[in-house]
Amino acid sequence: MSKDFIQLEPSMIAADWAKLGEEAALCRDAGVEILHLDVMDGQFVPNLTMGPDVVSAIKRNAGDVILDIHLMIYAPEQFVEAFVKSGANEITFHLEATEEVEHIIEYIRKCNCKVGLAIKPETSVSLILKYLDKVDKILIMTVEPGFGGQAFMEKMLDKVRFLREQAEKCGIRVDIQVDGGIDLETAEKSILAGANRLVCGTYFFKYPDRKEVVNKFNELRKLREFK
Ligand code: DX5
Ligand code: ZN
Repeated sequence: MSKDFIQLEPSMIAADWAKLGEEAALCRDAGVEILHLDVMDGQFVPNLTMGPDVVSAIKRNAGDVILDIHLMIYAPEQFVEAFVKSGANEITFHLEATEEVEHIIEYIRKCNCKVGLAIKPETSVSLILKYLDKVDKILIMTVEPGFGGQAFMEKMLDKVRFLREQAEKCGIRVDIQVDGGIDLETAEKSILAGANRLVCGTYFFKYPDRKEVVNKFNELRKLREFK
């Protein structure tokens, strides 16, 4: 895999919501290549965040930064087209949010968008294994979804390790993403376990120097060669 297979993804939930456009532009100027946007419906998770219009506003300021939309909503298919229109490059939905997993995977692909599938901490990794070769990315929640600023659940790395082993054993090229409680230390543990996409909210947006924190995450790329 190429050297930039390991990617930092700032999670905008932790940005200053009074100036999301400016925050997106600052991320772009600091060398961020992917932004993570958490969409929550207040039902699937006990929080409400952004809709397609907010994503469009972020897109207008983010230049060619990839927008990775994390749908923590029931009936995710209802909003796929709206988010693609608003500028989404990747859409991830939750296994627990629908009975129509295969249909939604195909639907997102038909919309010319990369597709990811996510599981909550209490969901067994065995339930997502059969989709490993059907999606571009598997998202392993390392906190209970709904809020930024929570503590990293190290136990979730067993899921990351298992999936990366299965992928490498079967020659499947798939991104494995960790999301929640990521800082430089938990990022290192996650990469060594097999994750290559690192969603980082609080730690990134609290860090005083954006360019410096991007460089520190990029230095982690030497930790592991992925097959
Ligand atoms: C939680 C979200 C995560 C989280 C990341 O439901 O999916 O993106 O906000 O934020 P931190 O890095 O603060 O845990
Ligand atoms: Zn997320």
